[in-house]
Amino acid sequence: MFSASLSTQLSLRPGILELYWGQPDPRLLPIEAVREAATRVFTQHGMEVLSYGKEAGPAALLDWIRQRVQHNEGQELPPGETVVTAGNSDGLDQVCTLFTRAGDVALVESPAYHLAIAILRDHQLELEPVPVDEGGLRVDVLAETLRALKRAGRNPRLLYTIPTFQNPTGSCMAASRRRALIELAAAESLLIVEDDVYRELAYDGPAPPSLWSEAPRGVVLRLGSFAKSLAPGLRLGWLNGSVEQVARITGCGLRASGGGVNHATAMVIGEFCAGGAFEPQLERFRAAYGARRDALDAALGRHLPDGCRWTRPGGGYFIWVALPAGMDARELLPVAERHGVAFTPGTRFHHDGGGAGALRLAFSLYTPDELEEAAQRLGSAIRAL
Ligand SMILES: Cc1ncc(COP(=O)(O)O)c(C=O)c1O
Repeated sequence: MFSASLSTQLSLRPGILELYWGQPDPRLLPIEAVREAATRVFTQHGMEVLSYGKEAGPAALLDWIRQRVQHNEGQELPPGETVVTAGNSDGLDQVCTLFTRAGDVALVESPAYHLAIAILRDHQLELEPVPVDEGGLRVDVLAETLRALKRAGRNPRLLYTIPTFQNPTGSCMAASRRRALIELAAAESLLIVEDDVYRELAYDGPAPPSLWSEAPRGVVLRLGSFAKSLAPGLRLGWLNGSVEQVARITGCGLRASGGGVNHATAMVIGEFCAGGAFEPQLERFRAAYGARRDALDAALGRHLPDGCRWTRPGGGYFIWVALPAGMDARELLPVAERHGVAFTPGTRFHHDGGGAGALRLAFSLYTPDELEEAAQRLGSAIRAL
């Protein structure tokens, strides 16, 4: 794999199993199939590929997304409710640009995906945490938080949540909480931004229906991405919302001036998906990452000392480990690195300073044998500390 690459974010230190990175294994990426799709689309539609694209994205890709949503969630996706994005980070950034103003309150999960927090901060939003447990976002606490904010004269603009295979905890929001959240958001005119990046990486049967698919139109903006289901370097995803919300995005200055985002890639992936290459690639990912989830879960059981707890995620890339009482993951990290394993301390995911007693392990980059070794090294480091 990569060490100190000049062109990728991912860089790995020799001798350390880096369970820090939440990225796909580069060895599993669909290089050949994407190359073939690119050759076909450039041969047949070269002039269109290299022109400014339609604001909402190319027809072939939009059409495939419509079919995929129907296949996954049994929902008709009428025209005008989808816009292609350059991935979920880009989708979230656009939502903040067009639907919020600096100083607005954004509700965020705690722990939350730290890099989305960075995007919300770029827009100078004021962040209010709402706790997450094994059943996902605590909707009862959200209701209290909303009441307290209202009493203080503050009106939250949006809630950013990952209800399905959350980063960092791996938790999946329970069905009853999903219903309660939708009802609450609809009653309070709170916009839910649903980051659905891990939906396709479900290892124990289909993922639960998205919030978007169960809510009245306009309550939820759902962000979908090809970053985990195909490849992050594509910088490609989509957003589902009401016709009015999507029109706000397709009609924005960015798209009026530059056309649909990441158009050439969107044409290539439209061809890739229409040609039937998506499903077999996804099956390869599910088989590989599901086996890695199983391997790490079992290895933690063999190697972590008493007092450690973790939950087995139904999908995604992450296992969240609670350390024995009183242990701080930030102090454990240098010890773990000396033992040849790295992770992300829980404090990275709590913007209010909590999370010291937990850590996130990403199992996506390594084979089952390497994960066995990683768990053994982590267990030794915890005992040494
Ligand atoms: C929850 C979550 N959202 C978004 C992203 C990034 O998505 P994209 O590559 O589509 O911008 C990640 C990547 O790790 C993620 O874990």
